[in-house]
Amino acid sequence: MPFNALTPELIVAFEAIVGPAHVLTAQRAEAAATAEMYADYGRDHTEDLHYAPDVVLRPANADEISQIMRLCHEHRVPVTPRGAGTGLSGGALPVHHGVVLSTERLNKIIQIDERNLQATVEPGVVNEAFQNAVKEVGLFYPPDPASKGSCFLGGNLAHSSGGPKAVKYGTTRDYVLNLQVVLPTGEIIWTAANTLKNSTGYNLTQLMVGSEGTLGIITQAVFRLLPYPQHNVLMLVPFRQEAQAAEAVSAVFRAGVIPSGMEFMERIAMEWSARYLGIPLTVPEDVRAHLLIELDGQDLDQLYKEAEQVYAVLDNYNVGEILLADTAAQKDELWRIRRNIGNAVKSAVYKEEDTVVPRAELGTLLAGVKEIGARYGFQSVCYGHVGDGNLHVNIIRGNLSDEMWNVGLREPISEIFRLCVKLGGTISGEHGIGLVQKGYIGIALAETNLNLMRGIKKVFDPHGILNPGKIF
Ligand code: MLT
Ligand code: ZN
Repeated sequence: MPFNALTPELIVAFEAIVGPAHVLTAQRAEAAATAEMYADYGRDHTEDLHYAPDVVLRPANADEISQIMRLCHEHRVPVTPRGAGTGLSGGALPVHHGVVLSTERLNKIIQIDERNLQATVEPGVVNEAFQNAVKEVGLFYPPDPASKGSCFLGGNLAHSSGGPKAVKYGTTRDYVLNLQVVLPTGEIIWTAANTLKNSTGYNLTQLMVGSEGTLGIITQAVFRLLPYPQHNVLMLVPFRQEAQAAEAVSAVFRAGVIPSGMEFMERIAMEWSARYLGIPLTVPEDVRAHLLIELDGQDLDQLYKEAEQVYAVLDNYNVGEILLADTAAQKDELWRIRRNIGNAVKSAVYKEEDTVVPRAELGTLLAGVKEIGARYGFQSVCYGHVGDGNLHVNIIRGNLSDEMWNVGLREPISEIFRLCVKLGGTISGEHGIGLVQKGYIGIALAETNLNLMRGIKKVFDPHGILNPGKIF
């Protein structure tokens, strides 16, 4: 799709819409000594990729976004929407340059409706700030990606982000009732109603969630909330074999317990994270992996009963001494280690795959990843939300040649993805396809499915200006 370059007239028009202070360009950033900050709008947390925007716009509301989209639609200028830039598949990278449209100023929690257990928010609200605000009135918003301290709810909606609690509570899409969206043509719509049930036409809300900013720009979201679970129990379980940890995951569910967190950390993942955080941690020689298992609820006695059930299941495996975290500080430290594995890995050169399979196939996937790595000569750090069958596979650059890193790895990554699909899984559980996984999407989706998606894209965005170069 041919795009047009930005003109000085368009820059003037953008200034009239959002105000000159919110129109950033490389030259202006240079003059204001903010070049590094400006360059950040061309990166996210995906590998070490960078694409320079021609201009960054920071609108304040849906109306301003609508005016921007009308102009860009008319002039065929590409627009890349951007939240906090914590994405892991390159979804916010302006690969065709043009406009980067940042939602950072749409950062209000508009309403917390305690009567209906709902809240209305703008997309630039930070996930954890939202969780804390609803917690203050006894309510609970469960989706909690590892980057919850900085990621925006808009980005969470773009990928249907998950995190550890998804295993019991579902991902972002399970909490969305209604969305205000600016379409690529500039029209503003609400997708549904603020109701828990809705059987009124096609589900545009769920079409928007996970569409990675390619169909519209979300400017408000109505989420449903839950009562805050008052108690939790956290245990760290050491395993002498990775395969046994994988097997134990599905056994816990079969015993009738649904944990609120069921995370896998292979030995090296935990070691890297502790080192990154400066926490002294010695994993015993014979331990290959850990499961971090959390149970939550309103009734502590009930939780202890569930914990006993989990212990009974774990008795069937060759586990080391289980650590039952008994203080809030101990729990925080364990979660900090888990949540920082990604950051620890990011301090090396790496590629991250977000594999997902039905939970009971996890052992086969893990063994397959290691076998493929051994055959092609790469090291991987594996961890993730195994209660959901979601394993993050981080391939470490190490001593791989440029040729292997840039081209040669395509084959082993394809092998990993083909294995996922063979096991009934797919190629991304929560990070999305974005830029870096789009070359593999044909492994997971048939051409007929892809054509349906391309057709949908065309209906929403006839000139293909919104987040071009992503998904397919
Ligand atoms: C995680 O679960 O830690 C994230 O999804 C992956 C990451 O931050 O790299
Ligand atoms: Zn994750």
